[in-house]
Amino acid sequence: MSERLEDIAIAMVADGKGLLAADESTGTIKKRFDTIGLESTADSRRDYREMLFRSDEAMKDFISGVILYDETIRQNAKDGTPFVTILQNAGCIPGIKVDAGAKPLAGFPDETITEGLDGLRERLGEYYRLGARFAKWRGVIGIADGIPTWGAVKQNAQALARYAALCQEQGIVPIVEPEVLMDGKPATHSIERCYEVTQWVLKTVFDELYDARVVLEGMILKPNMVIDGKNARRASVEQVAEQTVRLLKSTVPSAVPGITFLSGGQNDEEATAHLSAMNAGHTLPWKLSFSYGRALQAAALGAWNGKPENVAAGQRAFIHRARMNSLAATGGWKK
Ligand code: 13P
Repeated sequence: MSERLEDIAIAMVADGKGLLAADESTGTIKKRFDTIGLESTADSRRDYREMLFRSDEAMKDFISGVILYDETIRQNAKDGTPFVTILQNAGCIPGIKVDAGAKPLAGFPDETITEGLDGLRERLGEYYRLGARFAKWRGVIGIADGIPTWGAVKQNAQALARYAALCQEQGIVPIVEPEVLMDGKPATHSIERCYEVTQWVLKTVFDELYDARVVLEGMILKPNMVIDGKNARRASVEQVAEQTVRLLKSTVPSAVPGITFLSGGQNDEEATAHLSAMNAGHTLPWKLSFSYGRALQAAALGAWNGKPENVAAGQRAFIHRARMNSLAATGGWKK
């Protein structure tokens, strides 16, 4: 496969394909395993990820790349095969989460800044040698009274831009993820407020990417959809699709090859329906696809339930969601 950033980015959003976000940190995967009463150990994390990565049909036909976590990119399947090799053999591109998480932003109560820039050049070099060809960094923006502030928006956008420039220097495609939360606190905002905040964030992010000399053709944007807060969901599928497409058309340059959404707390079917409606009804300058974590994994996690005898059921659930989202990525999903 070509090593040019532009070609990798295009392959990440190949027709009917999207990304699997399997980059839960050790803390986050513990929370997911808690929901099925499973202890999180290196072995249980391996077994769970192995179930997903060995879902051949999904990995070959519907998933273009997988975002891994530091532990996972170095981990082997039970038979000793590196996970990276399993993905590559299925034609999937390995990727890596490189941020160190959102930490309280000094001077800005209830807002965060994503850390992880120190030493990032060297870490990216190592991840490249381990097989990663794209990376992810997530900036987190909440919506509340008087929040976000300009200071938090600007500092998170600057961190994303510095990360993206370092990735490109190291031959890695950056996924730029500025997430405006739908499930923060209190999560009661309107779709209009989400539109306004996401517009502000995306305009600022693209200004910073320009200042940092990031090549837009060699990146992927991973935004939230324009949607109302999780505790006040009212907007219809059509409204979410219309507002999201309207916003992206006015903020994301057409040089960007692909936009892959996060699911952010939408349920599985909502996440699929919204993506399909966007692709079905519009002529778009970029590919619109998925980079879902929860919306691709929740059903599989439940069906597996931590039991070896349920691996086939877990894989069936995962392949089903991957197929539905593949259809949505070309606008062909029907309820
Ligand atoms: P969700 O789809 O569960 O929001 O996760 C995607 C992701 O990678 C968030 O950073």
